[in-house]
Amino acid sequence: MATLIAYFSRTDENYVGGSIRELKVGNTARVAEMIQKLTGADMFWMEMAKPYARTYNECINEAQKDQKADARPELTSYPESIDGYETIYLGYPNYWGTMPMAVFTFLEHFDFSGKTIRPFCTHEGSGLGSSVQDIRKTCPDANVESGLAVHGSRIDASKGDVEDWIKSVQSK
Ligand SMILES: Cc1cc2nc3c(=O)[nH]c(=O)nc-3n(C[C@H](O)[C@H](O)[C@H](O)COP(=O)(O)O)c2cc1C
Repeated sequence: MATLIAYFSRTDENYVGGSIRELKVGNTARVAEMIQKLTGADMFWMEMAKPYARTYNECINEAQKDQKADARPELTSYPESIDGYETIYLGYPNYWGTMPMAVFTFLEHFDFSGKTIRPFCTHEGSGLGSSVQDIRKTCPDANVESGLAVHGSRIDASKGDVEDWIKSVQSK
């Protein structure tokens, strides 16, 4: 059975190691690419129909508003089906202690019963936060594994951690 890497990631301004920087490729996208090289899995990027603002400060306000409203922002597209996938690597940045609300939109779009979800998250200090519990609540019949947290400002040094994680989950 095939494997899918489904991830949310944002380019534009972001907060990296204490300062605001313009990212050409988002941190989570970079981890997704590492996982793709190691697994050969299919990739899907969750693109918001109305993306958050380019500027960091506006983006955090918009994202926090969506979280407080328990919103389900629309995505521009979805994989046609996830029936053929047994394992899904699910990637996202930590937004206010959990996943961006668009990832909830994605999870609620499909039936993940019986599938294995391997979460991976990039963050600036909060690790996975409550995201793994939130995925378990949203997909109660999936096998949701414990997940990998990668510090966004240390992406370049994280290749070995990603490789070790893939080896350990694949040997289960
Ligand atoms: C709206 C927003 C909220 C965030 N909230 C948190 C947070 O609560 N804890 C944390 O450690 N990092 C937080 N961050 C930092 C991101 O998780 C981090 O920069 C991540 O690597 C961004 O991934 P991306 O480049 O793939 O979008 C936040 C960033 C944004 C834009």
